[in-house]
Amino acid sequence: MEIKREQWGSRLGFILAAAGSAVGLGNIWKFPYLVGENGGAAFIVLYLICIVLVGLPVVIAEILIGRTAQKNPVGSFRELSKGNPFWIAVGGLGVITGFLILSYYNVIAGWSLGYVIESIKGSFRQFNDPESAGQLFNSLSSQPYWTLTFHAAFMILTVAIIYAGVTKGIERASKFMMPMLLFLIIVLVIRGITLNGAGEGVRYLLKADFSAISGKTFMIALGQAFFSLSLGMGALLTYGSYMSKNENIPNSALSIVFLDTLIAILAGFMIFPAVFAMGLKPAQGPSLIFNVLPVMFNAIPGGYIFRIVFFLLLSMAALTSTISLLEVITTFVVDEFNFSRKKVSVILGGIVFLIGVPSAMSFCGWQKFTIFGLTCFGLVDFISANIFLPLGGIFIALFVGWFWGTRKALPYLLEGTKNFPGVITAT
Ligand code: PHE
Repeated sequence: MEIKREQWGSRLGFILAAAGSAVGLGNIWKFPYLVGENGGAAFIVLYLICIVLVGLPVVIAEILIGRTAQKNPVGSFRELSKGNPFWIAVGGLGVITGFLILSYYNVIAGWSLGYVIESIKGSFRQFNDPESAGQLFNSLSSQPYWTLTFHAAFMILTVAIIYAGVTKGIERASKFMMPMLLFLIIVLVIRGITLNGAGEGVRYLLKADFSAISGKTFMIALGQAFFSLSLGMGALLTYGSYMSKNENIPNSALSIVFLDTLIAILAGFMIFPAVFAMGLKPAQGPSLIFNVLPVMFNAIPGGYIFRIVFFLLLSMAALTSTISLLEVITTFVVDEFNFSRKKVSVILGGIVFLIGVPSAMSFCGWQKFTIFGLTCFGLVDFISANIFLPLGGIFIALFVGWFWGTRKALPYLLEGTKNFPGVITAT
């Protein structure tokens, strides 16, 4: 007999869990350095266009598939396509992408947890330039012991939440962490923009120079929109599968997209004023937050506390994303093979940890081991985030817009939705 599928305890619970999935390292670690490398405000404008024109509709489509079928990605595509192998494979691609993203994402999440501990230990106190912080970063991330310990620790945290279930685990954790995250980030933004010399950073974020924009920048902005919204691999589909038919999908999607974008932009306002106040260059690349921020905190009163708070914030943001990744693959195995969630979450956590070891080791002696010129970390990141996610996004859009067909899909979207622009009278 089939066990009844769990459902979110409340609408807010769903929104915070889905926004928790969306808000993560992508917003706080990646978005600011992409802005710094790609022309500041002009990149932000481009990003916003991608979010509104591409991101929002695909978010709606993905949640709709999950809520209608009430299953994992593979099961949902199987049900709605009536067993068409191509679409089942699209669901399968999502599950594989979940495995891959979680395996390397968890390594960086582990670093941020490691930085909480280093901050408490006071390891950054004597630094006054990003070079020495950079050296510490290199020496920590190149120690297999340090990297693998925190990789494992972060996976244990993730498994613990998934083990507890949808409402007791994911929903409860998100309801606690998301408001705290928003609060902490606002505190840090206020701290950042009131620093001496912060004005230049604020101007940098507000003044758009469109000469920096090219086709490549556009692709980067689009890829970032997918990654940041957790789109294209079934994370939102899976969360949608726990949603009741009385909930309004377009409104929930709007809230999720709004929160994700707000936090990315706030992260920019948290970091750039501080970067400029310290007289540093905005284009620091991926090491931006790990090299610049620990030092920046030395320049401000109460820096010791702010630094701990910041890395705690980063870890929490990452955790609400890793749980959504583990949930996708867990629910797949639970639904399809009828195993218990508790066992599956622990076993899958172990497997993903192992798959992540080569990515972690890419910073600890395996730098020279490259495939197509990329380290294991770089390769897994590139394939999953730059190829599989956009591909999955295209398939989701084609599925709803063409295979299922908007006319057939619309009544399902309108369940729980009274007014949808243009189709108010369609029911
Ligand atoms: N959206 C997350 C972030 O911005 C990453 C993520 C991608 C999570 C895909 C789940 C699925 O950090």
